[in-house]
Amino acid sequence: NGELLSWQGPLAAVRSPVFLAGEKGDEQVVLGSTPLLDADAALAALDAAVAAYDHGQGAWPTMRVAERIQHVEKFLARMREQREAVVRLLMWEIGKNLKDSEKEFDRTCDYIVDTIEALKELDRRSSRFELEQGTLGQIRRVPLGVALCMGPYNYPLNETFTTLIPALIMGNTVVFKPAKFGVLLIRPLLEAFRDSFPAGVINVIYGRGRETVSAIMASGKVDVFAFIGTHSGAADLKKLHPRPHRLRAALGLDAKNPGIVLPKVDLDNAVNEAITGALSFNGQRCTALKILFVHEDVLEPFLDKFCTRLATLKPGMPWEDGVALTPLPEPGKVDYLNALLEDAVAKGAKVVNPGGGSHRQSFFYPAVLSPVSPEMRLYHEEQFGPLIPVVPYRELEEVIDYVLHSDYGQQLSLFGDDAAQVGRLVDAFANQVGRININAQCQRGPDTFPFNGRKNSAEGTLSVHDALRVFSIRTLVATRFQ
Ligand code: G3H
Repeated sequence: NGELLSWQGPLAAVRSPVFLAGEKGDEQVVLGSTPLLDADAALAALDAAVAAYDHGQGAWPTMRVAERIQHVEKFLARMREQREAVVRLLMWEIGKNLKDSEKEFDRTCDYIVDTIEALKELDRRSSRFELEQGTLGQIRRVPLGVALCMGPYNYPLNETFTTLIPALIMGNTVVFKPAKFGVLLIRPLLEAFRDSFPAGVINVIYGRGRETVSAIMASGKVDVFAFIGTHSGAADLKKLHPRPHRLRAALGLDAKNPGIVLPKVDLDNAVNEAITGALSFNGQRCTALKILFVHEDVLEPFLDKFCTRLATLKPGMPWEDGVALTPLPEPGKVDYLNALLEDAVAKGAKVVNPGGGSHRQSFFYPAVLSPVSPEMRLYHEEQFGPLIPVVPYRELEEVIDYVLHSDYGQQLSLFGDDAAQVGRLVDAFANQVGRININAQCQRGPDTFPFNGRKNSAEGTLSVHDALRVFSIRTLVATRFQ
């Protein structure tokens, strides 16, 4: 609501994953600082959202849809003016390469445009009258109340806005916490928020989630909770709410998406898809392929081609031309990946690509490990980084068993040309994951497709259209004519 633009309280330093040569050797770049709100300041932001929701007739929740759309369009126009600043911060704050940073920005703008169109269509269809047995029914689609939206560091703009914008446009008021890494890139948009929406409709909070978000959840004033992160983190936060059963949630959680390479397969396509699937943004995507099951008959050529292709990926700084592999933003991530690698090697796996696993500061060169087996951590844990575990298999039952017993159920990929075999697996997995990709990597897009998951991987379905429903509810106003 504008107050943060002139914040006088404590600040936290924001560090880049990028190290540059300094006087004492390579030094980590400090990009700036961010406000560190305490619980009271976070609750004040929440109260602003509650007040803006309760403001009565003609205020945000009861405003005509066409008018709310105008506010969002105004914001979008102002946001587009900040493209260069936001893209630059995506590269510096989370190490995303130039091409993917630009893609994230443009995709987010497209998402907003598509959401506006989807709402116009929904409004045309939802706002209708029905006359049955002397009763006139008016179906209204109404907002839920106050939404708490939290985004992840890997898509700090896109993933955050795919809940924030639908929540707003449906008439909810919002408290929004930017991701821990990727926090500065929201700064160029703050004035646009303030100038485009009525006071209190959108409230940005910064600070340690344990203090700020916990206090907000415990207040019981949140009606809908949108969160992208770990399953345990979401469960802990939901538990704090005094009425968790009344809290609607849109959650994008853990995943360990398998890529399954069948014996009859177009290997070049499988390798190309598996490389981008496993290594785009260094494997830091919830939709990344995080374990590959490769049939023994094609294991050798698959590994050969995979490693050859991997060697063509250029490491470097995010803004350099054609760079694919970049530094990792999470402190301690390199050590974590190394521990997973060492555990797998100690239990019999080999690093099969030259230089795999070499690391320095925040950079970790991708490692392909084979054969990976159930006693290794890498077989179960979501590495969320550039490690590619390869599990050779002979019988399809081994793969079916993995999927059926996994705690995760977001997506999987099947690579194969034998229609009967692929069809059998589609049937076996159809109730295990949210999406099955055939001869293609796992991914969220197109954004009009449903994005969800089973088991510990998600709650609720997001897509341009589904998100409008997640952040609203249908109410019937029925008038009896005597
Ligand atoms: O991290 C999860 C993202 O929603 C993945 O989106 O498949 O387009 O990279 P993506």
